[in-house]
Amino acid sequence: MGSDFPASALFRTLDGGDPGAILDVAHYAAEDGELSRMIRAARARAWDPAELGLERRAAEAEGIMPEGWFPEGRTPSAAALPPALRRRLSDEVLRWLLSGILAGEQAALTICSQLCARFAHPAARAFAAGQAAEEARHVEAFTRYIDARWGAPYPVGEAFGAYLRDLIATPSVAEKLVGISLIVEGFAMGAFANIHGHTRDPALRAMLAQVMRDEAAHHQFGLMWAEHAPSELPPAERSTLARSVLRGFRALYLNLVSIRQRRAIFAPLGLDWRNVRAEVRAARADHAAPRGLEENINPLVLLARTLGKSGLLSPGEARTLDLFLARAAGGA
Ligand SMILES: [Fe+2]
Ligand SMILES: [Fe+2]
Repeated sequence: MGSDFPASALFRTLDGGDPGAILDVAHYAAEDGELSRMIRAARARAWDPAELGLERRAAEAEGIMPEGWFPEGRTPSAAALPPALRRRLSDEVLRWLLSGILAGEQAALTICSQLCARFAHPAARAFAAGQAAEEARHVEAFTRYIDARWGAPYPVGEAFGAYLRDLIATPSVAEKLVGISLIVEGFAMGAFANIHGHTRDPALRAMLAQVMRDEAAHHQFGLMWAEHAPSELPPAERSTLARSVLRGFRALYLNLVSIRQRRAIFAPLGLDWRNVRAEVRAARADHAAPRGLEENINPLVLLARTLGKSGLLSPGEARTLDLFLARAAGGA
């Protein structure tokens, strides 16, 4: 069967039927459309985290990230720290974000394995299996990087962790696929681009460049699903999916913007996270830090744009994403 094969059939699942039907090989159809090209592209972009020299550290004295990279780095509390601790604060924010990303990579590996077992079409199974292998590579890469720089990751933040646990637990293929490929990977691509653009660590830059190429393809798979499959969902499942999308956006919003979510980083530096949060809020209310903040919420802006265009949300639901962005950029 060629590229006139209906794309939504690629995403059919084994649900409700005989799981052993997958052994009925006479009904297999070769697929030579977009998805096959994506599977071949994945084979060509293999890379090995062990060969990136992640253990080498070129920017020891400077800090991995610039000091004013995140809003807490521009507070009076940060300004009062000795220079070495000020640099550490900014790197601890990075450690916290990368730790959340490592949890996201573990969730992505788990969910791709689940999707691989649920899809019926061999091409969808092959893409999910290939993505699972790439997510395993990302888990290794972030584990190696965090181990070399800090020894251990932070536990995942409450909001993002709860959302990832829900995605793993839900029986809905649609929620899993949209949650990982559109929301988590959509956000991750923006976050990676932001970190890649600011870091002083060449090893981190090299690793992120590789990871971003993989994630762009995974995100593409989610967009392909959103284009073809939702029209076949019953209305009740569509509205459950829309609620799950809004919940995911809120979890990533909190993961990026909330000082409370990453409160673990402040006490070891002698800072009270509540004071830091009050100072960050005051700066937002004064619009004292609008340029940097806009840059910092870039991943959320990109994600809101993608979700707005995905057709998964009603116009009213899409407007609630804008409310989150307005709240992050200042004002409330
Ligand atoms: Fe990944
Ligand atoms: Fe991915």
